[in-house]
Formats: sequence, C-alpha cells, structure tokens
Amino acid sequence: MEKIEKILFTHEEIQERIKELGKIISEDYKEKNPILACILKGAVYFAVDLTRNLSIPYILDFISILSYGPSKETYGIVRITKDLDTNIYNKDVIIVEDIVDTGLSLAYLLRVLKAREPSSLKVCTLLDCPGRRIIDVPIDYKGFEIPNYYAVGYGLDYNERYRNLMYIAVLER
Ligand code: PRP
Repeated sequence: MEKIEKILFTHEEIQERIKELGKIISEDYKEKNPILACILKGAVYFAVDLTRNLSIPYILDFISILSYGPSKETYGIVRITKDLDTNIYNKDVIIVEDIVDTGLSLAYLLRVLKAREPSSLKVCTLLDCPGRRIIDVPIDYKGFEIPNYYAVGYGLDYNERYRNLMYIAVLER
C-alpha cells in the first residue's frame, strides 16, 4: 500500500492560488461569457473552485477523453467519450485541466476544439509538469509548476484513489 510522502501544496495554498487565477481570468474576460471546458474527471475539483472565484458570467461544461492502447505515451488519445453539451462556435473557450504532463491530452483537445471555430481558445491548468512533456502545448493560466512527481489529491488520482484529498501530495511508491 502506497503512502503519502510529502505535501506539495496545502489546501490553503491551493485556494489562495485559485483566487488569484480567478481574478486574472475575470479581468481578462470581462464583458465576455466564457465557456469553461472542464476535462473529466480530475479537473472537476479545480474547475468548481475556480468558478467560485470568478466575478464574470460563465458556462461550465464537461468533456471526457479516452486514451487508446497500453499507454497514452505510446498510442495517444483517440476519442471523446463524453462531449461538451455547448456549441462553442464563435464562443470564448477556456479548457480547464488539473495537470498537463506529456501534453498529449491537451494537444488532442486543442486540435478537436479548434476545428469547431471558437472565437478564442485558452488553457488553464492547476499543475504543469514540464519535465514529462512529449508535445509542446500552450498554457495561458497555470497554478503551479511541479517537478517530475507523481502527484495525487485535489482531483488527481492513483488508481482512482486520493482524488478527495484537500491538498496535493506526492506518493511514496
Ligand atoms: C490526467 C489529467 C489530464 C491528463 C494529463 O487525466 O487529468 O487530463 O491526464 O496528462 P497528459 O498531459 O500526459 O496527457 P487521466 O487520463 O488520468 O484521467 P482522470 O482525470 O479521469 O484521472
């Protein structure tokens, strides 16, 4: 059974950073009504708290993707298992992610969503792990950058566990 090795970000630190991100996004999107495209499932926790810190109108929507093959790194992402409910044509869209690792999920999503011709498409991620990047992806808003750790908590799982932690931690494995 794996154990929590150390806490990377406390609940307070996460909330403080989300507050800042919410302020910046509210400023950048004032007079607009962005669609927040939350990537299931991990980003739900972040997306919900982010909306609580927005002072602008927004639409929260969800999308789920599935990677194909034994590992995402080998085969990439091939399909959407649950699409957005909203038509994003001519709309301002912000993809909300919990973590960008290899960048493969995000690269796929950017390609798919861009083809629908939104008027703008940006990316907001709570965590960025540039050390694991395989494909270069643009990140417009980020909470924290982390080294090559296996992070869990606050939406991030290990075999579906630990999503409910209020903090983000590293697993001892
Ligand atoms: C995780 C995470 C991102 C993606 C990042 O999702 O939530 O969506 O992987 O990795 P990448 O940059 O290497 O593509 P996961 O597939 O574990 O699904 P989950 O959110 O449902 O846990």
